[in-house]
Amino acid sequence: MRAGCGVVILAAGEGKRMRSRTAKALHRLGGKPLVAYPVALARGLGAEGIVVVVGRDGERVRAVLGEAPDLVFVEQKEQRGTAHALLQARGAVPDADALLVLSGDVPLLARETVEALLAHHRKTRAAATLLTAVLDDPRSYGRIVRRRGRLTRIVEERDATRTQRRLREVNGGVYGFAPKALWPALDRVTPDNDQGEYYLTDIVGILVRGRGRVETVAVADPVEILGVNDRRQLADLEALLRRRTLARLMAEGVTILDPGATWIEPDVRIGPDTVVYPGVVIEGETVIGERCVVGAGCHIQGSRLGEGVTLRPYCVIADSTIEAGATLGPFAHLRPESVIRAGAKIGNFVELKKTVVGRGSKVPHLSYLGDAAVGEGANIGAGTITCNYDGVAKHPTVIEDRAFVGTNASLVAPLRIGADSYIGAGSTITKDVPPGSLAVGRARQVVKEGWALRRRRRATEPEGEGGGRE
Ligand code: UD1
Ligand code: CA
Repeated sequence: MRAGCGVVILAAGEGKRMRSRTAKALHRLGGKPLVAYPVALARGLGAEGIVVVVGRDGERVRAVLGEAPDLVFVEQKEQRGTAHALLQARGAVPDADALLVLSGDVPLLARETVEALLAHHRKTRAAATLLTAVLDDPRSYGRIVRRRGRLTRIVEERDATRTQRRLREVNGGVYGFAPKALWPALDRVTPDNDQGEYYLTDIVGILVRGRGRVETVAVADPVEILGVNDRRQLADLEALLRRRTLARLMAEGVTILDPGATWIEPDVRIGPDTVVYPGVVIEGETVIGERCVVGAGCHIQGSRLGEGVTLRPYCVIADSTIEAGATLGPFAHLRPESVIRAGAKIGNFVELKKTVVGRGSKVPHLSYLGDAAVGEGANIGAGTITCNYDGVAKHPTVIEDRAFVGTNASLVAPLRIGADSYIGAGSTITKDVPPGSLAVGRARQVVKEGWALRRRRRATEPEGEGGGRE
């Protein structure tokens, strides 16, 4: 696209048909808010100024998109229709020969399609160019009305006659405009329809009647113009996106044993020969290396897995890093900022938070390590707990290389356990342990020989037959 093309994204609508306390723009598709899709598209086009019209939940929409030098937000205080929404952007759009208008609720539009639309728009020097599609089920879309093949107007479903409702060519809600023709025409839109709203679509009729040139460009794949107005459409698009993502991953060499039972978000990347078992959910910008195994029921979010990592079933992993050849689970839980170095083993019912487990170290069973750094080749026995929280602040635990922590140890932080040292099983360790030493912190064992035998004898002896004890 030539520089200097402005973009307006209409995202102020209430989204009544969603029946939600949250604005439609914020509902998630493929893990991202709907409004993020047209913004990403506009950025992909190299647009100079992107104006986002916000209304309901405007502050939250701003927050999810974030402050950025290329984004300008304008507010539509009352939701009085798409033409009214576009008018709010008038003072904020860059001075350019073409203005692209995108809907905040049409997420699957491809960049190539919009580029083709803009190229056609510029070539024909049209006043307006619209994206259209022919749908099997055109319900909820504005219909393209033609007379002898020539576009005359767009009629919204609820204002359409029965004959018009049968038209299957629909308005995609994506427009290129010549600003000089757009703004005067927009001023002439009236709320003369079933909803009493100012419809952007009315400017087609206005331009045509004023002998302006209005062009249409048909989209190759109708999926691209599908909009999200209600939860059913949202679920349909989610399913579609999911199938696309799985198809891409399989084409890239990933084995997905049951695509119908696998949820992987679109930004996830997975290396070839990795096997994904049923019931797996992978979200965010997760990157998984080659030859990994992701066992049944694992949930992975925003994490990086190196090559040859094995996740046994039911691991939950968030915002963490797992290096090559490590093995986790079943039932391991990595909370954010955990790092498992190459070849380490994390076993069942182990929870880690902000913890680094060094190369080849093992945490095989039933442990909690929080704010801890474990060196290389260490062994953390079953039931080891870092007591990292004193009710006020969190404290670190350092366990150096080759340390051996016996089972059921409570490690009271802040604490350092030196390299090559041993911690006796069942200890509560409150003081630093120097390298190469043994620390035992538990009550000494007491043995009373014969005690049990004597007790039993006493219980079975008949009473009052003498021989009773003093
Ligand atoms: C609109 C079109 C319809 C087209 C369809 C394609 C109109 C009148 N109709 O219908 O022809 O087939 O899109 O998806 O334009 N919005 C605002 N402020 C408002 C109203 C809406 O910002 O006052 C925003 C919405 O947040 C949404 C977009 O504009 O992102 C479209 O509005 P929506 O109500 O979904 O229009 P549709 O009924 O889908
Ligand atoms: Ca819509």
